[in-house]
Parts: sequence; structure tokens; C-alpha cells
Amino acid sequence: MSMKIEEYKGVIDRYFKYLPVSNKTPVISLLEGDTPLIPAYKLSNQLGKKFEVFLKYEGLNPTGSFKDRGMTVAVSKAKEQGSKAVICASTGNTSASASAYAARANLKSIVLIPKGAIALGKLAQALIHGACVLPVKGNFDDAFRLVKEISQDYPVRLVNSINPHRIEGQKTASFEICDALKDAPDFQILPVGNAGNITAYWKGYKEYKSLGKIRKLPVMCGFQAQGSAPIVKGHPIKNPKTIATAIKIGNPASWKSAEAARDESKGLIDTVSDRDIIEAYKFLSSQEGVFVEPASAASVAGLFKLKKLGYFSKKSKFYLSYSKTIKIVCILTGHGLKDPDIAIKNIKEPKAVEPDLKKIVKLLKLK
Ligand code: F0G
Repeated sequence: MSMKIEEYKGVIDRYFKYLPVSNKTPVISLLEGDTPLIPAYKLSNQLGKKFEVFLKYEGLNPTGSFKDRGMTVAVSKAKEQGSKAVICASTGNTSASASAYAARANLKSIVLIPKGAIALGKLAQALIHGACVLPVKGNFDDAFRLVKEISQDYPVRLVNSINPHRIEGQKTASFEICDALKDAPDFQILPVGNAGNITAYWKGYKEYKSLGKIRKLPVMCGFQAQGSAPIVKGHPIKNPKTIATAIKIGNPASWKSAEAARDESKGLIDTVSDRDIIEAYKFLSSQEGVFVEPASAASVAGLFKLKKLGYFSKKSKFYLSYSKTIKIVCILTGHGLKDPDIAIKNIKEPKAVEPDLKKIVKLLKLK
């Protein structure tokens, strides 16, 4: 008997008919997507019987972040349309993803990063994939302004999330969540930086709804780091600050569409402090066994904050209006190994020991 194993070929193949591609598009894929939706038992317990919390672990994409979903489409389209080079500004993950997909597509990649402000793993990725990396003496917003200007005047394709192909690719994450849950979740919580991802998820949910694939739309809850929360504050932040370098952004490109996602879904965009982020980061790694980078922990920090504020309490409008289980999906956007420095800084570093069996057994208090 022969068994046919259906081969997974990445998000363009899986969601071909919902994406701006045709049979002529040369598909550049690293088999991104198809990431797990992990039940978070301890988080669910903290909220109460009526709740089920899931973690969409986007850190398991090929370059370790959700950017790969958008990059497969953006780079495939750049290739189809004859581009020879791609360019982006990045807090790290976009540059890692762009340079990997560009390498695969034989395109040159140029990345402008805020000098000294991106996590080590991400810098290593961009460099090892052969990108031309320019650290800019400024912040992300400065770098972003520059790449927009360069891409207008020179033959390089901008692959930041203002490129609509990025949003198209990234919306596949909401398709996956709906396919797994057989409907949209009641709430989706995610970190917000340049605001492309919240835009993409919302677009995906709305499309699935209008296709009749889901019955409801989720309430979208976005979280920015307190020191870099332009959308929450209502104005750009000149010198954004946070340990979550991925979302250290003072003037998000997709500001308006993030607000639209918030308002249309009757959701919210709020802040979490760096301390909240680290607390959630440690909770995820030590309690759920899921290692994420600090920016990703902002979603779970947000969940804790909403719980504290009574958002999900028995008296809340949500609790009363839902008869069945309330499903919450937290998006974990990037892998913890991207930023090992932060992990090391937030634990007690172990002391070295002599290679002596008796001493070690004693030290471990195994008896
Ligand atoms: N989480 C991670 C790990 C990120 O890298 C980013 C954005 C976000 C969340 C926020 O997503 O920008 O769509 O609102 N990183 C971009 C970059 C800015 O350059 O890698 P967003």
C-alpha cells in the first residue's frame, strides 16, 4: 500500500487563491507559515474556566519571526516584476527575513538598521545571508524615512510593510488561526510596532468572514511598549524607548489602519511597561515552555493587564455575552533566541563548578 503524504509548500501554495499571485509568479518560499497554535493551559487557568488561551508561535517561521509570511509574497512579486534588489529599514526581524528570501531569489538586499539598537541574533542573520547592512546613527523612524526616499528614486524594491504584498502574505496567519479553530477567536492580542501586522490580521479576518469561512470577527487588542506608544498617546514619539527593540518605533507607517482595526473590531490599543513585558516573557518561558523575544511577550503582558483591569471579569460585557468558551489567541511574533542578551540579563547566571561528582550531587540537593 502506498501512502500519499501531502507536502507542505508554504503560505503562497496553501492560500494561493487569496493572494495576488498567478501561475507566472516565481514562488520564493522557505516553507514559512503552518505555525502551531499552542494551547496555553496555565494562562487559561489564570483567567478562569470559561477561557481558552492559545499561543500562535510565529517564532517557528524559517527566519524566526512572522515577517517570513509577508516576505515570501513581497520577494516573489519583486522577482516577478523584474526587481534586482530589495531594501528595508528594520528593528531586526524584517532585515533578517528580507535578506534570507533575497538570498534565495538571487536578489541583492540592502538593510538600514538603527545603530546599536537591534538584537544580536537578527544582526547575525542579515549579515550571514549576505545583506548589505548599514547601521544608521539614528532610530528606526530615521532609517525608515531614508529607505522610502531611496526606493522612490532608485531601482530597489521596498519590502517594509507599506509594501502591500507584505500585508497580503501576513494575513495568512489569521487564515491559519481560523482554519485551526474552525472560526475566528473571540479575542486576538498582539504587539504593535510599525502596525503592519495588526493591519494584516484584520484584513485576513475580514476576508475570511466575507467568504463565509467564519461566523464572527475577533476583538483586536494591540499593545505598544509604554516608552514607544505613539498610537496610544495620539502623537509620534521622537525618542522611543523600550527593551523590546523590535517595537521601538515612534511613528508607525500603518497608524491609520491599526486604528481602523481597533475601532472596527471594537477593540483597543494600549500600553504595557517594560517590567510587564519581562514578567510575561519569563512566564511564557518558565511556565508555558515557550521562548519568545521581548516584543512578542507584549501580547501576553497585555493579556495580564486586561485581566487585572477586569476586562474579562464576570461582570464584563464580554463575559456575559458569551455563552460558550471564550477563545483568546496571543500572537508570539518572534523567537526568543533572536535576543539572547535579554534572557541572560534577566536570569541569575549560573556559577561554574569543579568537575567533582560528590560536590555536584551535594550542590544539586538531590537527596
Ligand atoms: N514583534 C516582532 C518580533 C517584530 O519584529 C515586530 C516588528 C513587531 C512585533 C511589530 O509588528 O511592526 O507589524 O506592528 N518588527 C519590524 C522589523 C518593525 O523591522 O522587524 P508591526
